[in-house]
Amino acid sequence: MAFTLWLVPLTLLASYYTFVAAAVAIPQSPNQKVIKNKVEEGCDLYEGKWVIDEFYPLHNASSDCPFIAKGFDCVRNGRPDKKYLKYRWKPNACDLPRFDGEKFLERNKGKKIMFVGDSISNNMWQSLTCLLHKTVPNSNYTLTRQSLLSIFSFPEYEASIMWLKNGFLVDLINDKEKGGILKLDSISTGGQWKEVDILIFNSYHWWTHTGHSQTWDYFQVGDKLIKDMDHMEAFKIALTTWAKWIDSNIDPSKIRVFFQGISASHADEKACLRKTQPEEGSMAAPYPGVDIVKSVINNMTKPVELLDITLLTQLRIDGHPSIYTGSGPSFVDCSHWCLAGAPDSWNEIFYATLLRD
Ligand SMILES: *[C@@H]1O[C@H](CO)[C@@H](O)[C@H](O)[C@H]1NC(C)=O
Ligand SMILES: *[C@@H]1O[C@H](CO)[C@@H](O)[C@H](O)[C@H]1NC(C)=O
Ligand SMILES: *[C@@H]1O[C@H](CO)[C@@H](O)[C@H](O)[C@H]1NC(C)=O
Repeated sequence: MAFTLWLVPLTLLASYYTFVAAAVAIPQSPNQKVIKNKVEEGCDLYEGKWVIDEFYPLHNASSDCPFIAKGFDCVRNGRPDKKYLKYRWKPNACDLPRFDGEKFLERNKGKKIMFVGDSISNNMWQSLTCLLHKTVPNSNYTLTRQSLLSIFSFPEYEASIMWLKNGFLVDLINDKEKGGILKLDSISTGGQWKEVDILIFNSYHWWTHTGHSQTWDYFQVGDKLIKDMDHMEAFKIALTTWAKWIDSNIDPSKIRVFFQGISASHADEKACLRKTQPEEGSMAAPYPGVDIVKSVINNMTKPVELLDITLLTQLRIDGHPSIYTGSGPSFVDCSHWCLAGAPDSWNEIFYATLLRD
């Protein structure tokens, strides 16, 4: 990843602290919407710590869920330490309800749930399908994969849990002469988003790519082609385009919208290598891009619920596949997450939020 925390401009830090201060001291702040969404009867689900729980993991990826992607199944890929499987996210003021797949599917009978986003979105989708299958093992499932869309269905409940691959949310087009053009103010694929009952978006990691890992050649805004610009500025423009799309196309009485917040990467200098324990404590430095996500969501006219997973992932430096991706020890993955692992907790939070009303 291109950013290191100590390189974050001071202005960014300042606005982050203003946000925190406002959040704590002034309930009527403009940030109220985000804050209201994350509080459940006085319990902030995102302030807490990772605790050892002998009842965890919630599933054994390989034996319970043969459909889990090889790259996430760290146990099968030979990861020798096992303590990382035992952590449960514990909010300070409450406990997350235990994940009950039957209850989840009863609640969502006849519904379509769609994750839209990058491979971290895939990570969460795979975790959810595994948690569901593990807790309702006698309910048959079908899994179909098309080029961009994967559909996991439980016919008994007429429920589908889908993942639609989309790294940027805005359009990336391929121009024969110019190459890849990332159109920051254009969304032409949103039609599929309107066909479901619950949407969980994410976008972030692709924006941080530079150099040879950058998957586009130009940015475009209006008619203007831009060779390069600050990638976080581009992320902000694109996310604002997405927000406007949701505001004008989604009826909240029909479709519930979530945004999966930024999942922390520990890829700088392969920091996750050989880590077998979470970071101590329940605080972490501000993470680049988080203030953009919160600000864009707060400025929306339609309700979007933020699954604010940044802090809890920042603490889980031990939770990445590292060299246990199944692709050999020269590949170190400090961005995705082992399953079982941290994404199961994101789904426990998602479940708690869905159960709330
Ligand atoms: C996972 O498998 C191990 C070994 O077979 C077993 O001891 C453990 O109970 C299993 N865990 C779950 C959550 O099923
Ligand atoms: C699951 O599929 C099997 C085999 O097709 C069938 O016998 C069984 O009744 C199905 N179970 C449910 C709950 O639909
Ligand atoms: C949200 O609205 C405020 C107040 O109008 C503005 O200052 C801020 O730049 C907006 N945030 C984004 C990300 O556009």
